[in-house]
Amino acid sequence: MILKIIFVLSFIGLVCNENVPSESYENSLTVFEDDPDKLKLFWKQLENNEIQFEIFCQTTGWVGFGLSPEKDMLGDLAIGWVDNNGNPFLEDTHAERKKRPLIDIKQDWKIISAREYQGHTTIKFSRKLDTSDVDDMVIDEKTQFLLFAWNDVDPLPNTGNWSYHGRNNRIVKIQKLINSDDGSNSANGLRNPLSFTILLVFIAVASKIFN
Ligand code: HEM
Repeated sequence: MILKIIFVLSFIGLVCNENVPSESYENSLTVFEDDPDKLKLFWKQLENNEIQFEIFCQTTGWVGFGLSPEKDMLGDLAIGWVDNNGNPFLEDTHAERKKRPLIDIKQDWKIISAREYQGHTTIKFSRKLDTSDVDDMVIDEKTQFLLFAWNDVDPLPNTGNWSYHGRNNRIVKIQKLINSDDGSNSANGLRNPLSFTILLVFIAVASKIFN
């Protein structure tokens, strides 16, 4: 009996593991290898010259994702959050070097969904590869600087008043977003290969316990 209860609880835990993307992605980036749940990015190219992202960040406030021509805080930034009533927001912004970002006149980053749970915020969003906006960067096959920053305070929408991320809550990564023809990138087609393997083991164990 105890075995059955342990099995059911573990299975519920597995199924309720929210820190996996809502759909399948070709690419993923675990930003902190020693703390994999802190910040993760999943992305795939869509057919209509668009790109879709899903970001997971350990914050209850805003999370920013950006493209920069340099390893510095400048360029094309998207800032998203979920307010205390569960309303999702994403603002298309741009920054001059290390200055508070400004909201773009033309909003090209589009939010698909967002939610906050157990201290994490996840935002799904998309954009055209080339938005023809001077405040955005073109996403192509070149390696790009990806900027990430976050802060636990929810901003008010359309104010540009995001709290400063501080020295600890920001990082720059170098990454290709568009796969070359040789397919080189950190591919991760399965929703969560480890969970999938564990699930198979559970099914095998369950069939032994319940038969
Ligand atoms: C409230 C708005 C913001 C302010 C006032 C601000 C300000 C600054 C300042 C003063 C620095 C240099 C000192 C430091 O490293 O902390 C910096 C660096 C940085 N910021 Fe921001 N920032 C803001 C929003 C953002 C957003 C939305 C992102 C990402 C999407 C971002 C990404 C970064 C990154 C990655 C660095 C480090 C760059 C490097 O390695 O030199 N910032 N920011």
